[in-house]
Amino acid sequence: MRELKVKVKTAKGRKISSTRWLARQLNDPYVKEAKQKGYRSRSAFKLIEIDNKFDVFKAGQKILDLGCSPGGWCQVAAERVNSSPSNVLVHGIDMKDCDPISGVNIQNLDFLNQESFDQFTQNIEEKFDVILSDMAPNAIGHKQTDNLKIIALVEAAIFFTLENLQVGGTFVAKVLDAGVGSEMQNLLKKRFKRVVNFKPNSSRASSSEKYLVAKQLKV
Ligand SMILES: C[S@@+](CC[C@H](N)C(=O)[O-])C[C@H]1O[C@@H](n2cnc3c(N)ncnc32)[C@H](O)[C@@H]1O
Repeated sequence: MRELKVKVKTAKGRKISSTRWLARQLNDPYVKEAKQKGYRSRSAFKLIEIDNKFDVFKAGQKILDLGCSPGGWCQVAAERVNSSPSNVLVHGIDMKDCDPISGVNIQNLDFLNQESFDQFTQNIEEKFDVILSDMAPNAIGHKQTDNLKIIALVEAAIFFTLENLQVGGTFVAKVLDAGVGSEMQNLLKKRFKRVVNFKPNSSRASSSEKYLVAKQLKV
């Protein structure tokens, strides 16, 4: 049976863009499934697709999730590596608040604030097996500026990853259409055995995002 599409009327005081957002949320199958399965974001399905295709996670691995709020990726990662309160394997950071998740160490901090981020990494003794970044800056609506902001975040994530990922480890990051630029792409290709760009089905066709997956960091 075909599901009925929910129509949202423009209400007094609600902007047209908010009405469109609400209609899209109410009619999005991934939003529905996320609710049913208890995931905090529809983004959880993007990471599930990435893991199913590229074999990112293995039980017992240590994971860092940059830009983790509201927590969908941390939930998926914790399930897939068997993280638990007695053996916390997943660490997430975000400048926005993120409600606690069982088996995940969540820290409220800005990745670009070197001092507070250094304090966080000081307490983490071993390197990570997987570093994820779904970080996205608050969009201001000016395409070029938004693009530059996300590129700056991805570049910072790449440099951090090259220092803090185990040899053999995996890096996954959200990028926009233009990718990371040829200089960064070449650097990644030199340092990882395999580098691909992937657009999960659960990523909205209207969004210019895709995901960079870099596997097997070389010595
Ligand atoms: C698309 S959301 C992440 C969704 C998440 N993967 C999930 O499944 O719930 C992007 C997040 O990046 C965070 N972010 C952006 N810039 C950041 C920064 N400099 N430091 C930490 N977090 C940042 C935002 O606060 C936002 O919560």
